[in-house]
Amino acid sequence: MTAPVLEVDTLCKSFGGVHAIRDLSFEVHEGEILGLIGPNGSGKSTTVNSLAGIFPITSGKLLLGGVQIDGLPEYARVAGGLARTFQTASTFAEFTVREQILLGSNVTRTSHPLSSVFGIGRNPDEEATLEERVANILDITGLKDVAHKRVATISSAQQRFLMIATALASDPKVILLDEPAAGLVSHERKTLSKLIKSIRTLGVAVLVIEHHMALIMDVCDRIVVLNFGQKIAEGTPEEIRNNPAVIDAYLGEAA
Ligand SMILES: Nc1ncnc2c1ncn2[C@@H]1O[C@H](COP(=O)(O)OP(=O)(O)O)[C@@H](O)[C@H]1O
Ligand SMILES: [Mg+2]
Repeated sequence: MTAPVLEVDTLCKSFGGVHAIRDLSFEVHEGEILGLIGPNGSGKSTTVNSLAGIFPITSGKLLLGGVQIDGLPEYARVAGGLARTFQTASTFAEFTVREQILLGSNVTRTSHPLSSVFGIGRNPDEEATLEERVANILDITGLKDVAHKRVATISSAQQRFLMIATALASDPKVILLDEPAAGLVSHERKTLSKLIKSIRTLGVAVLVIEHHMALIMDVCDRIVVLNFGQKIAEGTPEEIRNNPAVIDAYLGEAA
């Protein structure tokens, strides 16, 4: 297996008396697509928000490329290579698709105080590399044909893909996708599946949370399953599909 790019080590997160996450440990490896699933309220969003730095964690350790990031502010984690998409559109309607993606790249283009900590920094070939990167991103997100259209004029599915494209433009080590298929219809979910799989070709690892089981089973190399804030299973899609504890957890949700 490749090196871990993201490490969650005995993470605990409480909200008042509610233990949203208890002793959660898992790793996302280079080039890997890892799925995080579980019934409603099992702690998926809390895990993603802990990683992104939306709130302080209660205990445990979070590492990005071997560097401890819990305790760092949100922007510093982004600069260190952690990208995420948001449920609400944070795009600029008047910009073109290409301009919006270029905006996403800005986070890595200015030299950041933590650059040396994470070993990032731009070389003189920065501009050429950026052009190439944007071309690649337009290609894999299927936005090439609308690159020069204004953001306001593209479809809502394309806007969703644009948010992923913008996050990818920051040249991340890993991207967090929290329910990327929400609100998409069947053929758009298929496009999303392809998109997620091709993120690998950019050398970016993926942590994806999703309710659409078919999508998760299709795109993930490995899956971590949460129930009541704890990990109840971890394995390949095939292993997860046949795991009795997982089946029980989902049957519990249905009942
Ligand atoms: N900001 C918050 N304040 C209080 N409780 C929260 C907060 N966020 C999540 N929780 C609680 O933490 C638990 C896990 O929630 P969440 O991570 O949103 O689950 P999931 O994303 O898997 O549906 C739930 O019991 C939820 O009510
Ligand atoms: Mg959630």
